[in-house]
Amino acid sequence: MTLEQAKEKLAQYGQEHVLKYYEELADVEKQTLLEQIEATDMSILEACKHKEDLVKKGVITPLAAMQLDEIEANRDVFTRIGVEAIRAGKVGAVLLAGGMGTRLGSDNPKGMYNVGVTRELYIFECLIHNLLDVVHQCEAWVHLFVMTSDKNHDATVQFLQEHDFFGYRGEYVHFFKQEMAAATDYEGKIYLEEKGKLSTSPNGNGGWFISMQNNGLLELVHNEGIEWLNVFAVDNVLQRIADPCFVGATIQRNCVVGAKVVRKNAPDEKVGVMCLEDGRPSIVEYYELTEELMNAKDDKGDPAYNFGVILNYLFKVADLEHMMMNHMPLHIVEKKIPYLNEQGELVKPQAPNGYKFESLVLDMIHQLDSCLPFEVVRNKEFAPIKNKTGVDSVESARALLEENGVQL
Ligand code: UTP
Repeated sequence: MTLEQAKEKLAQYGQEHVLKYYEELADVEKQTLLEQIEATDMSILEACKHKEDLVKKGVITPLAAMQLDEIEANRDVFTRIGVEAIRAGKVGAVLLAGGMGTRLGSDNPKGMYNVGVTRELYIFECLIHNLLDVVHQCEAWVHLFVMTSDKNHDATVQFLQEHDFFGYRGEYVHFFKQEMAAATDYEGKIYLEEKGKLSTSPNGNGGWFISMQNNGLLELVHNEGIEWLNVFAVDNVLQRIADPCFVGATIQRNCVVGAKVVRKNAPDEKVGVMCLEDGRPSIVEYYELTEELMNAKDDKGDPAYNFGVILNYLFKVADLEHMMMNHMPLHIVEKKIPYLNEQGELVKPQAPNGYKFESLVLDMIHQLDSCLPFEVVRNKEFAPIKNKTGVDSVESARALLEENGVQL
């Protein structure tokens, strides 16, 4: 893209300010900036001016979860079906590790965080050990796809290689980078993170399947005969990955996606809950849950929207391939975004100062025909690390790890 073309594009979206330092840049930096301007989708930025219109929900009705008693009664059958699928190489795992973990506030990828107390115990290590349990149980390796972003790719790959993948087989680990999106101030103006670089952040965890495709990994998925992908977040150190019982239940119930859920600990707990939206499976976020829905009861008199998602989904690959990925809703989230101030100095803000533009994995559920919400025991499978202290923190996760017999 030439400077003239860049100016034209920027003028169209009111972003001319990003050329403020252009004349000061060396030739290569100029070229890189022009390339970045060309590659950036600026049409989405306007959306922050009518944020509230973006996520309009349809009619919400309850979707029953498969609860613990039903799972216990069928555990052997489900487990046998799941183990068979894993042994046949039909199940892969996708670790979503492209996020910035701004709330935790560490400069390293979140998975490199050491939750140990008397010894080193990294988040990545906890997750891989959990997956290794399944590898041993099934006597079969599970392909592990790791999504990173421009911001943390090299550090993540190097760290896992240096630690010999914590006992996992290197040839079963595949890295891919997700796409980035521009980050703006509250008026939708793109921040600069360097004089010749627009501020960008990973474009949300909803782009994982497209990014696998863009990185050529679907070929591997097809060649290996992988039919199911278990997508999970980097920050839940207790979660079970490629859990045979969960895999088996989803297959046996003929669902195209399974979602691990936990019973909410209060009607207003801040988790997205499973539901039907206009008759199709969906997730309603806690801030979208009206008082009426919060207090609604099912036939048995139990709360009708009582099961929260924990970002652990099992997707059927064939159905993902028919999805309209370009129709994923856009979410605009307030975050802390490092930026150059008026003096051209880099500022790392302590509080949110603008917007990131993301698509979310939970929105994929609504495009699929059937979903099995599968209850898990909260204290055994849900220890998310979002913050350093308080709710969903390093502290709370350490306590839960100890409760589950993990030596810290
Ligand atoms: P979070 O919603 O916790 O976001 O991600 P985050 O960026 O990691 O953390 P904060 O909000 O800045 O503190 C949930 C999961 O989705 C992944 C994260 O790595 C985590 O596993 N994720 C998030 C991505 O892979 N890409 C993204 O663009 C965003």
